[in-house]
Amino acid sequence: MSFNSIIVLGHFINPISDKKAVFYPNGAMLLTRTKSSPKYKIKKIGHQKQILKLKNEQTDILDYSDHIIVPSFFDMHFHWVQDAVRKMPKDNLLKWLEKYTFPAEAKFQNKKYAKKEAAIFFKRLIATGTLGGACYSSIHDHALEYAMEEAKGDFIIGNVLMTMNSPKNLTQSKKEAIQSVKKLSGKYKEKYALTPRFAIATDPETMSETSKIAKKNKSFMQSHLSETKNEIHFVKSLYKDLPGFKKGKSYTEIYKKVGMLGPKCIMGHGIHLEPEELNILAKTKTSIAHCPTSNAPHRELGLGSGLFDFKKSEKNGVRWALASDIGGGPYVSMLDVMRSFVEQNKKAGVSGADYKKALFRSTLAGAEILKLDKKKGNFELGKEANFVVLPKLKLSKADDVNSILAKIIKIPKRRTQLDSLPVAVYYQGKCLFSQ
Ligand code: GUN
Ligand code: FE
Repeated sequence: MSFNSIIVLGHFINPISDKKAVFYPNGAMLLTRTKSSPKYKIKKIGHQKQILKLKNEQTDILDYSDHIIVPSFFDMHFHWVQDAVRKMPKDNLLKWLEKYTFPAEAKFQNKKYAKKEAAIFFKRLIATGTLGGACYSSIHDHALEYAMEEAKGDFIIGNVLMTMNSPKNLTQSKKEAIQSVKKLSGKYKEKYALTPRFAIATDPETMSETSKIAKKNKSFMQSHLSETKNEIHFVKSLYKDLPGFKKGKSYTEIYKKVGMLGPKCIMGHGIHLEPEELNILAKTKTSIAHCPTSNAPHRELGLGSGLFDFKKSEKNGVRWALASDIGGGPYVSMLDVMRSFVEQNKKAGVSGADYKKALFRSTLAGAEILKLDKKKGNFELGKEANFVVLPKLKLSKADDVNSILAKIIKIPKRRTQLDSLPVAVYYQGKCLFSQ
């Protein structure tokens, strides 16, 4: 039976901004759809008693009473082809890429393997409540095609381009890289992300040529920027001798020169940026994907790259959102990313990094960067019913959004269990996962 409307019962948290989230204890959400569309949208949100009055014989009831319900997550930077290495020992970035990551990505040359892995990875991703974001694939066109088939929700995906300083089995010619972007950006348009791996692995001519193609197709763009000091030194030593990149050009200026920066560009990390670089990112409306679990110390299974200064970015007007950077980050769940963001900043004595902010930066902030915030990202009326049902929680009078999210995240004994915390995940009112 197909219902015209659905009423969802639960305790709802609706993120609005860094400082504001509306809490609906014992709340309900009325979802409706038109005859011509299978997509359920939010018609009303409020108290159970009021919303239940709107029930008719065509209404389905999803009773998640006592459960915490939040909008589905956006993970704004992750590598689906690094699932096999995310929990392995970590090293500094460049060594880790060589030792663990590149061999893992080379395996995706095998079509059977790539297809099987895509089905496994995206099924797991959905079960953690992530239904949108920005995804990196390997250099192989077919791996991107499989990811596009399996990714349910609102993802932009790109095949990394690697034309230099890379292992032989992962090195493309400039011509191959450009042809691949022409084909895939032309086919997927705004669902595609031009993805030079980083300035070390992709030559500037390829970045320039492919930027033009991506812009023509309205595709997004993404890469890595200023993740570690070693990486920055290497970039500077590589580019200082190249025509047009005189000594002293910053890492950010390199991406600017090749035409990558702009409102559709997301740069991963941005930990060690100079003030002038932040200025360029702000002016060009480029966003940063901050990956706290990936940047965390080795003992926390991160790459030990440092702590992103979100206050400096905000002061400079640089847009940013949270991300897992799988497999730099070890766990798929954005709940673990939120936890790491809050805990690392707390430990460093940085104020203002609370769960309310972490939730906003894991939902609506990502939707904004992907230009989907009119339809997705939180529980505003008229938006799609995309939500994650979290476990039951006994509320006390003193509870607020911060304490509730902190309690939810502390439910499992081990971090890895956050990946299986959601009870159910819904996209456009349709159940994609249920325990
Ligand atoms: N820089 C270039 N490639 C990568 C990658 O795969 N992961 C991370 N964290 N940084 C990178
Ligand atoms: Fe990354």
